Amino acid sequence: MTTPLDGRTALVTGSTSGIGRATADALAARGAHVIVSGRDEARCELMVKALRSAGAAADFVAADLATPAGARSLAERALRVTGRVDVLVNNAGIYSFGPTTSRTETDVDGIYGVNLKAPFFLVQALVPHMVERGSGAVVNVLTGAAHRGSAAAGLYGSSKAALLLLTKAWAAEFGPSGVRVNAVSPGMIRTEGTAGGAGLEPIAATIPARRLGDPHEVAAAVAFLASDEAAYVHGAILPVDGGATAA
Ligand SMILES: NC(=O)c1ccc[n+]([C@@H]2O[C@H](COP(=O)([O-])OP(=O)(O)OC[C@H]3O[C@@H](n4cnc5c(N)ncnc54)[C@H](OP(=O)(O)O)[C@@H]3O)[C@@H](O)[C@H]2O)c1
Repeated sequence: MTTPLDGRTALVTGSTSGIGRATADALAARGAHVIVSGRDEARCELMVKALRSAGAAADFVAADLATPAGARSLAERALRVTGRVDVLVNNAGIYSFGPTTSRTETDVDGIYGVNLKAPFFLVQALVPHMVERGSGAVVNVLTGAAHRGSAAAGLYGSSKAALLLLTKAWAAEFGPSGVRVNAVSPGMIRTEGTAGGAGLEPIAATIPARRLGDPHEVAAAVAFLASDEAAYVHGAILPVDGGATAA
């Protein structure tokens, strides 16, 4: 049976943990050759081992996306793995919260560097190759905090709100050349990254789904947007948040 992503190479940033790891699993299960990435080589290696032992094609390229040079280097090395990147999932992200008066220049540079500038420079380096082939898909991972103001999440939310606008701008820029750009907007998802965050359950109990989300539920939405099943979907922002932004 031909699977929807057979023959395609997918780079998933931040795929050693949480939503990114579940996304790497989902894309591999659909036939993609997955390039795993994160800063920690040992975690990358473990993830690749797990994918290969499930019968998938996988490699890793470790990278620190805190600087544009790190993003460019990841793009260059990822292109060498199979000679192409057909699907780019901009998932790596850092989140920390606090009032504006408490945030330092290091916080601003760190959050904007990983959440916004890295996707920008990865798209700049990888999408021209997709354009040359006339096909490709980019999926950005946003957040509910990109859609509304909240007192402690201005810095994090604004980094993702800029990525939200870029999703639409890139859809306009690259869609005519056959490259689709879309985004998922997760709500409260149980991951390693949110494990320490107390108090998510009581909030989740008030949303329509009445629970936290699972990373695989976000991954399924990413896999849909990355596949030809979403061939007429351009510039969409798909909430995967148990209804949190709707109600
Ligand atoms: N979990 C949620 O409730 C939630 C909700 C809305 C949106 N999101 C978004 O979903 C994405 C994933 O969240 P998550 O909860 O799954 O995160 P997570 O469990 O903390 O995992 C983050 C991933 O990003 C990588 N990463 C972090 N800093 C990096 C850097 N400087 N360079 C390269 N890779 C880096 C990490 O690997 P290394 O540490 O090895 O580098 C890891 O693989 C993020 O963009 C987040 O903003 C999450």
